[in-house]
Amino acid sequence: MTLDDLLYKPGLLQGQRILVSGGGTGLGRVMSEAMLLLGADVVICGRRGEVVETTARELNAAHAQASGGHVSAYVCDIRQPDAITEMLDKVWAAQGPLTGLVNNAAGNFISRTEDLSSRAFDAIANIVFRGSFNMTLDCGKRWLAAGQKASVLSILTTWVWNGSPFTVPSAMSKAGLHAMTQSLAVEWGGRGIRFNAIAPGLFPTEGMSARLNPGGGEHKPQGNPMQRAGRMPELANLAVYLMSPGADYVNGQTIAIDGAQWQATGGNFSPMLGWTDEQWQRAREHIARTDAADRAKRG
Ligand code: HXC
Repeated sequence: MTLDDLLYKPGLLQGQRILVSGGGTGLGRVMSEAMLLLGADVVICGRRGEVVETTARELNAAHAQASGGHVSAYVCDIRQPDAITEMLDKVWAAQGPLTGLVNNAAGNFISRTEDLSSRAFDAIANIVFRGSFNMTLDCGKRWLAAGQKASVLSILTTWVWNGSPFTVPSAMSKAGLHAMTQSLAVEWGGRGIRFNAIAPGLFPTEGMSARLNPGGGEHKPQGNPMQRAGRMPELANLAVYLMSPGADYVNGQTIAIDGAQWQATGGNFSPMLGWTDEQWQRAREHIARTDAADRAKRG
């Protein structure tokens, strides 16, 4: 990505210090890159040290000098509240207070709900629902105590409005964050902390493809009125807008960016209603291989 892909003037986010959970890969990396390009100090965190460190190194090498911003990396499993506190203590001490948080880290896989165990539910909910809440709460307490302005952006899905079969733990967890966005926008808005969310449609990433399209093949945005998937700079431009001082009066909103896919088709996994037992078995095996490879990198 370059500045030409973005809508904004250079330096727009200078002086902002923004933490992006799951910033080492996928949409998190894209948003981190855009914010760096616009001069922000970006803090990324993830479970795999090598992944976040490589991303920080690559993004700094590409853009830090020209933009004046910087990316730093922390290893943190947001499922552990103590690990969140430890990371935020370090960030506040080493770099100063954050001015923004992007709740991007997620986990998801397709499965028939009757095939899930309660541990499977927790594997998703502990990242998306509890992890994002605990990140928000820990940052929020620090901001409120200091009387400091801040902005929180959560990355949701359009399923917060209509649910999704076969990704029920994710749909429930993201719907919870949608409720958090609306609730805290009111509770903390008057104290300078605003809350918004983005509900992206199809923006193909590696982590998402392995777990939500495990048969492989091209993502076909079937029935999408725009007849295409999203482009990363399109998502980045919306995220930057919501995090920028110019959006100070935007609060409590969840904005879809999906080419109107969900109005046209529901935008969820209902097409899998016709899958056979064999197809579900194959999907599960593929997802298990991806998870094992990821786990190996976490050490
Ligand atoms: C049924 C499954 C399963 C599957 C795991 N489990 N995969 N059950 N079908 N495919 C069950 C296991 O059997 C186990 O339960 C429990 O879940 C925990 O499994 P672990 O492998 O130990 O979990 P863990 O290592 O914590 O893995 C976490 C994860 C993993 C969330 C499952 O996929 C992950 O780390 N993902 C991060 C990246 C990611 O998912 N990216 C996609 C995000 S896309 P038992 O009872 O057997 O012990 C997204 C938005 C998409 O969120 C929007 C599209 C429009």
